[in-house]
Amino acid sequence: MPKITKEDRRGWMTDEEFARELLAGVNPMMIRRLTEFPPRSTLDPSKYGDQTSTITEAHIEKNLEGLTVQEALDSNRLYILDHHDHYMPFLIEVNNLDDNFIYATRTLLFLRGDGTFTPLAIELSVPELRDGVVAAKSEVYTPTSTTGAEAWIWHLAKAYVNVNDYNWHQGISHWLNTHAVMEPFVIATNRQLSVTHPVYKLLLPHYRDTMNINALARQKLINAGGIFEMTVFPRKYALEISSFVYKDWNFNEQALPNDLIKRGVAVEDPSSPYKVRLLVEDYPYASDGLAIWHAIEQWVAEYLAIYYPNDGVLKADVELQAWWKEVREVGHADLKDEPWWPAMQTVPELVKACSTIIWIASALHAAVNFGQYPYCGYHPNRPSVSRRPMPKAGTKEYEELERDPEKVFIRTITCQLQAIIGISLLEILSSHSSDEVYLGQRDTPEWTSDDKAQEAFKRFGERLTEIEKRVVAMNADPRLKNRNGPGFPYTLLFPNNSDRKGDAAGVSAKGIPNSISI
Ligand SMILES: [Fe+2]
Repeated sequence: MPKITKEDRRGWMTDEEFARELLAGVNPMMIRRLTEFPPRSTLDPSKYGDQTSTITEAHIEKNLEGLTVQEALDSNRLYILDHHDHYMPFLIEVNNLDDNFIYATRTLLFLRGDGTFTPLAIELSVPELRDGVVAAKSEVYTPTSTTGAEAWIWHLAKAYVNVNDYNWHQGISHWLNTHAVMEPFVIATNRQLSVTHPVYKLLLPHYRDTMNINALARQKLINAGGIFEMTVFPRKYALEISSFVYKDWNFNEQALPNDLIKRGVAVEDPSSPYKVRLLVEDYPYASDGLAIWHAIEQWVAEYLAIYYPNDGVLKADVELQAWWKEVREVGHADLKDEPWWPAMQTVPELVKACSTIIWIASALHAAVNFGQYPYCGYHPNRPSVSRRPMPKAGTKEYEELERDPEKVFIRTITCQLQAIIGISLLEILSSHSSDEVYLGQRDTPEWTSDDKAQEAFKRFGERLTEIEKRVVAMNADPRLKNRNGPGFPYTLLFPNNSDRKGDAAGVSAKGIPNSISI
């Protein structure tokens, strides 16, 4: 049974859990700090008109613990899960598909005094042709303390948000930003670096089985008419959306500190241990992630310092330069002229690039992969599709909601066949194999004969073991309320380096394998 319902059958239904999963769920890298109100759109006004959010101060001010909207903004207490611009350009086509009714959503959240989040308002929008542009037709829903149909309307609003988030998670956070973007690095490393090259030896474990699983995915999963298209709402447009989003991919922004700063959930702070300080202190993915990012970066810096005592050695390394040229100009050819690519002329650039590759292959993938069944295996918590619009008061659909709300909810989300196929797949994809090689481990101790490299790698393993203790201690700290879901703690970024016998095999939601292998 999925963890989300194993201990507590209805814990997933609360507003607290809905918000908590944005910090510790399966897609914890979407929430952003709001810096202006109302939220704006970046869609082209000549095609989409004015897509500024219709959420007003009146919708949210009663739930701001006495603050005004401006005070909440100024004190870093307002956040947003914004899927509006992501989906609005595709919704006319997507909603023309049989049995689909999808909204583009914006969710506003408030960071409470106790460190937890609460949803303030949800805006559901569909496209509407108006004055020659694809304008937004929007409705705003707010939490209710009542029961009956009104409570279910709010509950449905959260479900429509989760439909957006489910698909972004699978198509972008998981497939595009880990599996797909890693391939050019795997190929260029094998084509351009000798097997004895120190960077080859550093990166090799982080490529284990990635090409195999991606090839399998292309045959059965993300192919036209495959399981992915069958079970997610964009259906035949799913990969088109993924390709569209890739146009804005930025390698540097996948480094965790850069991602956190870009989303406004952290700020640069030289006095902090990791050089960035979280504005959302109890943010399990970011907190554990920063500890792991830092350990990876320390290990990579110590290791590369052995072979690159200065920038001159790096510039003169023809294999290394050919490797980076191929990554950029062949592997990521569509983006080769982007100004953000590291020029690969200094040792710190190489350290950062290798740390980012290792982060994507190990921790980032673990964070989005191994919670799939635990969180989404019960689809009411994370539906992949919505099929009906929100019932309106005074209609027969609303009467039906009053009579039998659970039936309406089930008939609104993913249908039975899609759910059975989708959930079966999620269970397979969430499993750790018994021969998993976790971060800080190598499949053979003879991977290098260099004592200095062996010693640095041993220190890396020791740091990861320390992080394991830190995760366990934080999960037991009652002040850190976002670390425990209904009956289970956040362990997706527990390194599991100390597990040498495969004890975490199966759907354990625990452990960071070296590579993207499932
Ligand atoms: Fe995966």
